[in-house]
Amino acid sequence: MDTGLCVTLCVAAAIYLVTSSTVSSEQLGDSPYVSNGSLTFKNRTFYLDDTEIRIVGGSLHYFRIVPEYWWDRMRKMKACGLNSLTLYVPWNLHEPHPGKFNFDGILNLRRFIEMAQRAGLYVIFRPGPYICSEWEFGGLPAWLLRDPDMKVRSSYPGYQTYVRSYFFRLIAEISDLQYHRGGPIIAVQVENEFGSYSNDTQHLLFLKQTMEEYGIREMFFTSDGFYNYTEGLNGLDNAPFYTEALPTVNFQDIVQGEQLFDKVETLDDDFPLMVTEYWSGWFDQWGDQHHTQSLDDFGSTVAAILNRSASINFYMFHGGTNFGFMNGANWDFEKNTLKTDVTSYDYDALLTEAGDTTEKYRIARQLIHNAIPETPRFDIPYDTPKEDWGRVHIQDFMSLENIIKIPQKFRMNRTVPMELLPLHSMDGVTFGGQSYGYILYRVNITHGHNLTFTDFPRDRIEVFVDGHSVAVLEGMVDNVDVNISLGLYTEAFPRERVLDILVENRGRVNYGTMEKTVLDKQRKGLDNNCLLDGELLDDVEIYPLEFDEDFYKRLQDRFVWGKYIGQSDLPGFYRGRKFIANTPLDSYLNMKGWTKGFVYINGYNLGRFWNEGPQQTLFVPGPYLRQGFNEILIFEHHKSHDSVSFQETYILDELHLDESTV
Ligand SMILES: *[C@@H]1O[C@H](CO)[C@@H](O)[C@H](O)[C@H]1NC(C)=O
Ligand SMILES: *[C@@H]1O[C@H](CO)[C@@H](O)[C@H](O)[C@H]1NC(C)=O
Ligand SMILES: *[C@@H]1O[C@H](CO)[C@@H](O)[C@H](O)[C@H]1NC(C)=O
Ligand SMILES: *[C@@H]1O[C@H](CO)[C@@H](O)[C@H](O)[C@H]1NC(C)=O
Repeated sequence: MDTGLCVTLCVAAAIYLVTSSTVSSEQLGDSPYVSNGSLTFKNRTFYLDDTEIRIVGGSLHYFRIVPEYWWDRMRKMKACGLNSLTLYVPWNLHEPHPGKFNFDGILNLRRFIEMAQRAGLYVIFRPGPYICSEWEFGGLPAWLLRDPDMKVRSSYPGYQTYVRSYFFRLIAEISDLQYHRGGPIIAVQVENEFGSYSNDTQHLLFLKQTMEEYGIREMFFTSDGFYNYTEGLNGLDNAPFYTEALPTVNFQDIVQGEQLFDKVETLDDDFPLMVTEYWSGWFDQWGDQHHTQSLDDFGSTVAAILNRSASINFYMFHGGTNFGFMNGANWDFEKNTLKTDVTSYDYDALLTEAGDTTEKYRIARQLIHNAIPETPRFDIPYDTPKEDWGRVHIQDFMSLENIIKIPQKFRMNRTVPMELLPLHSMDGVTFGGQSYGYILYRVNITHGHNLTFTDFPRDRIEVFVDGHSVAVLEGMVDNVDVNISLGLYTEAFPRERVLDILVENRGRVNYGTMEKTVLDKQRKGLDNNCLLDGELLDDVEIYPLEFDEDFYKRLQDRFVWGKYIGQSDLPGFYRGRKFIANTPLDSYLNMKGWTKGFVYINGYNLGRFWNEGPQQTLFVPGPYLRQGFNEILIFEHHKSHDSVSFQETYILDELHLDESTV
């Protein structure tokens, strides 16, 4: 054959091949889904740079993993056959006070996204600003609640003003990391499961337009689950936002999944199928069973999703940890009670809380390689070693009375929730108000027998008279009468006593519908709802116990530690030290014998523990430990123990309802 002809034919064939599997940019140039970005779709297929792409992704939340381990988890993603990383952004951590931003350390979002690119992963960006995610208040900053009329996730101007200022800063941080500018971000989500919240489509449009205005050009999408669709509350049925953003779906059960896929297919002939959250497992709550998903169900569901040529994202690929007080909660409307999420976000995901590969990981990897043979193959990285650092004996004790000397106190003529504590301004930033932790209300009383609450105290309260515990309350319905016995006191010989009400903010609700307005009612503490013999408390000292890094630093400056002299029922800090001679490796702290509280290790708040279970061990990342002496500081609310032990394995499934202190 004439070589000239071959060249012509071959080039023609090549061109034919290319055009048959690509789509020209002009066809999609005026698409409402992308402004000028790179990921597009046609005929139920995604295209990136005009080449077909199937998204096989996993959710990984930088704020739940110490930065030293980001790279390890990303390598494990690549080795599982994934090509994308999906992430939420927690507004509450990035803007802890209005106008004061933090993008450092574990919040270094840029570094995380750039690292994903180096690992060969595209990034799917989910900035919320509401993110659900079993995260405190669904990622919303608690200071929004200083506005008495706040309506989050809506067209309420007081909400949107703060969203705009946050998005302006956030998008400036990552704008150049979009794909069309050489970065890995290929898609951006608008809000989160909004269909299950409200039908205020104008708000979705506001969010999308704000992001566009600040420079987002990549493909917009939404994600919604099954219940939204059947309750008739979803954006698709009521107010078709699918003309503005690609609808994608969230599910665990494939029967529901198939219905969601069918629904998406009826909306538009071009829509590709995408599961943004295939729930690879589930989260746990205090006092409830540990959740797992069987390997059979997992395998058959993943196989069915892949078989339907859908794109998939494992939520979670690796869950990590709700460090500090960052766990979310749900309001149980049947029992009228708060259910809070445990510290571990293991989620029964493909990697454990400590980032170890699991059987699920190997099943997913096999299925992906089978379904998409061109997936690059990499060896599975080793797991990080774990170490049993042994027992730590408690040596020192600091009472609550000494702890409350650390924060600034407020004297007020009524009880106010933590968010409404007075403010001060510095360099144009407003500080004040309290978002997390505990709060103590103190009054001097000379009379009174009966303490009454006219509304739920939020959340868990303990009442003390002269330092003696007289009641622990939580999960109350309607009005609550608490009988405070004042001992031998009589009218003839009044004696001043100190009444303390210690309130724990157990975490704000992260999910609910707008009709029930549960999100807007997440103020914590007492809100002029506490009466003593029928009279409102009107001269109160309030001590915010935020237990954040700043609090820890001030704690270090004080010398009010006493010697630990054996088990006690007193709330306070219990301190021990551990010498580590070698390089510190990951470990778990077993809280057996302790009751309820949280743990600081070398100043890092590891999160809460509670003997109700099911979580028994707290994950201690090696990078939180150091060679030499390590300080273990336990805040125990009820009953202390003489020691606490490290171990090499985790226990997340020990439910102890009978041992509950309540
Ligand atoms: C949105 O839902 C409310 C009730 O929750 C209803 O009154 C209103 O008519 C709905 N609006 C639209 C546009 O569907
Ligand atoms: C994949 O889908 C085809 C129909 O498109 C079906 O016949 C087959 O059983 C499916 N396989 C799996 C593993 O679900
Ligand atoms: C309580 O204090 C506030 C401000 O400090 C004041 O405006 C208000 O009048 C006071 N209320 C009473 C009942 O004293
Ligand atoms: C209670 O009494 C103590 C000591 O008498 C005093 O220092 C404190 O300010 C009083 N607190 C209130 C709220 O009256």
